[in-house]
Amino acid sequence: MAINSLLTAATLLASQASAVLMHNALAVTPQMGWDNWNAFGCDVSEDLLLGTARRMVELGMRDAGYYYVVLDDCWSNGRTANGTLQPDTTKFPNGMKHVADQIHALGLGFGMYSDAGKYTCGQYAGSLGYEQVDADTFAGWGVDYLKYDNCFNEGQSGNKNISYARYERMSTALNNTGRQMIYGMCNWGQDEPYDWAFMLANSWRATGDIYDQFDRPDPRCPCEEKEGTNCALTGYHCSVMNIINKVVWFINRSQQGGWNDLDMLEVGNGGMTDSEYKIHMTMWAALRSPLIMGTDIRSLSPESYSIYMNPAILALSQDPTGNTAQRIWRYYVPSVNQYGRGEIQLWKGNLAYGDYVVVFLNAANEDMYMNATLSDIFVDEGGAESAQANSNWDMYDLWANRMPNATANAILSANSTMAATGMNGTEYSYNATAQSYADGIAKNETVLMGKNVGTWQAGGGSTWSVLVPRHGVMAYRLRPSGAPTTGMRRRRRDEL
Ligand SMILES: *[C@@H]1O[C@H](CO)[C@@H](O)[C@H](O)[C@H]1NC(C)=O
Ligand SMILES: *[C@@H]1O[C@H](CO)[C@@H](O)[C@H](O)[C@H]1NC(C)=O
Ligand SMILES: *[C@@H]1O[C@H](CO)[C@@H](O)[C@H](O)[C@H]1NC(C)=O
Ligand SMILES: *[C@@H]1O[C@H](CO)[C@@H](O)[C@H](O)[C@H]1NC(C)=O
Ligand SMILES: *[C@@H]1O[C@H](CO)[C@@H](O)[C@H](O)[C@H]1NC(C)=O
Ligand SMILES: *[C@@H]1O[C@H](CO)[C@@H](O)[C@H](O)[C@H]1NC(C)=O
Ligand SMILES: *[C@@H]1O[C@H](CO)[C@@H](O)[C@H](O)[C@H]1NC(C)=O
Ligand SMILES: *[C@@H]1O[C@H](CO)[C@@H](O)[C@H](O)[C@H]1NC(C)=O
Ligand SMILES: *[C@@H]1O[C@H](CO)[C@@H](O)[C@H](O)[C@H]1NC(C)=O
Ligand SMILES: *[C@@H]1O[C@H](CO)[C@@H](O)[C@H](O)[C@H]1NC(C)=O
Repeated sequence: MAINSLLTAATLLASQASAVLMHNALAVTPQMGWDNWNAFGCDVSEDLLLGTARRMVELGMRDAGYYYVVLDDCWSNGRTANGTLQPDTTKFPNGMKHVADQIHALGLGFGMYSDAGKYTCGQYAGSLGYEQVDADTFAGWGVDYLKYDNCFNEGQSGNKNISYARYERMSTALNNTGRQMIYGMCNWGQDEPYDWAFMLANSWRATGDIYDQFDRPDPRCPCEEKEGTNCALTGYHCSVMNIINKVVWFINRSQQGGWNDLDMLEVGNGGMTDSEYKIHMTMWAALRSPLIMGTDIRSLSPESYSIYMNPAILALSQDPTGNTAQRIWRYYVPSVNQYGRGEIQLWKGNLAYGDYVVVFLNAANEDMYMNATLSDIFVDEGGAESAQANSNWDMYDLWANRMPNATANAILSANSTMAATGMNGTEYSYNATAQSYADGIAKNETVLMGKNVGTWQAGGGSTWSVLVPRHGVMAYRLRPSGAPTTGMRRRRRDEL
């Protein structure tokens, strides 16, 4: 039995298993949307949510797939005499159902926040012990998504059973309401949620909280070097590279309907360069994290807008398979930054219809020529001997067709993708309302593919060499090109 067949069998089993194990019908691909926390913290209001929602529609972000408008912590004013949560009427003068109705009228979904503890992280009333009451309240308001945090959990954590039981209560309560709601567990990777949370939830936070830094170490995000081991102290102030290097060991435990959540996006918040934000966006898409924008959408820069909207990158996130990219290699390099860091990484993932994604990530302190061979890329398929290494591949650069700054600027100024005369942006963005990503990918829509920049010639030792900027990324979609070369081994189903 060839190794190819084994892997095919494993893939088949995995896809069957995920169909069976999906606990609700949601998040077949990673959920997309916006959450106020990264940019606004506790400064929440009806105006903020509705203003953001309107802007997401005007700018075509809803139609690019950013569907959920998620309200984070600090919205409540405790419980009424009968025990139900009530909103702060200064921040939400018309109540929560009104907010939900307005958001629904815009064709968007409404997300709500609570906590599997006595208090939320901001020390408002938590849902521990009130799971069904609160789930019923949320369903009554018309909530479509619950982000469920982990503060003040009264010691009900420390092993998988205890965490499972605590998070299961809300899962069951949400299900009991009969209303379909995304359940986004936010337990910071505690007690290895990738082992069990797919049975309860649509996503689970895989690490401590992100912050708006590319690779700055911070003592508040411990276990920097303890990759692959469970970190009891999950922390916060975790940089983009910290998160990438922590999730590498279990990222493939994501599946359709249940995803490792690498935390909300920081693109637009100012702590990273444009090139670093491209790494952030590329990796969150390739690793199939939920894509939850975390910046002020009402004052987006053209650069941030064109990162969030890049259709070739969003097509990775919304690929119809449940696969995540996986790291092929990582090398430390002499070119280090002020923190003594310098590394380069190669990532590869399987996409639908026999395509692959390959990402060259340069976290070193200077521009680097990075090199990969086809036997590197297809090591899991059998390396140099594999059919894939002996095929030609058309290379599509996923950032080459990024929306030009001038186009983005025109759209933002005219506040409509349609209104910017002569620059409607349709060649640089995708409308998933008109046609789903799955259908667009099946039809080879060019806007989802990126730009064809050449062919990677067949041969195990055949090398793709590319200059990757300092703290930068080059990402490609690989598509089978032309006829198979002679001598290629064909994968046969009867080898199973
Ligand atoms: C996307 O397509 C829908 C349905 O065809 C349409 O109503 C909407 O205006 C389009 N959005 C944009 C930004 O063009
Ligand atoms: C609890 O009180 C709130 C506010 O007074 C009210 O809206 C809600 O219907 C009550 N719920 C129950 C179950 O009585
Ligand atoms: C977790 O629960 C299982 C099944 O009930 C039990 O066998 C196991 O000992 C428990 N583990 C811990 C750490 O409590
Ligand atoms: C409740 O759970 C059942 C069994 O997993 C599932 O079929 C159903 O879709 C769920 N309902 C909701 C509203 O999530
Ligand atoms: C997932 O990745 C880990 C770490 O690289 C690897 O050991 C494991 O075999 C992978 N599992 C699958 C199902 O690919
Ligand atoms: C990639 O190959 C080029 C040409 O052989 C070489 O100069 C460069 O150092 C290689 N890059 C790395 C990171 O090894
Ligand atoms: C993009 O446009 C904005 C607004 O006009 C400008 O401030 C910025 O410098 C431009 N960026 C680039 C990379 O040209
Ligand atoms: C967008 O344009 C409309 C009408 O052209 C206007 O009413 C609205 O205030 C604008 N929104 C923003 C955020 O500029
Ligand atoms: C957008 O512009 C392109 C050419 O710039 C044009 O072909 C297309 O019809 C326009 N689409 C819409 C919806 O206006
Ligand atoms: C899309 O491209 C693939 C690979 O090039 C090809 O096999 C397939 O037939 C194409 N599908 C359509 C609908 O054009």
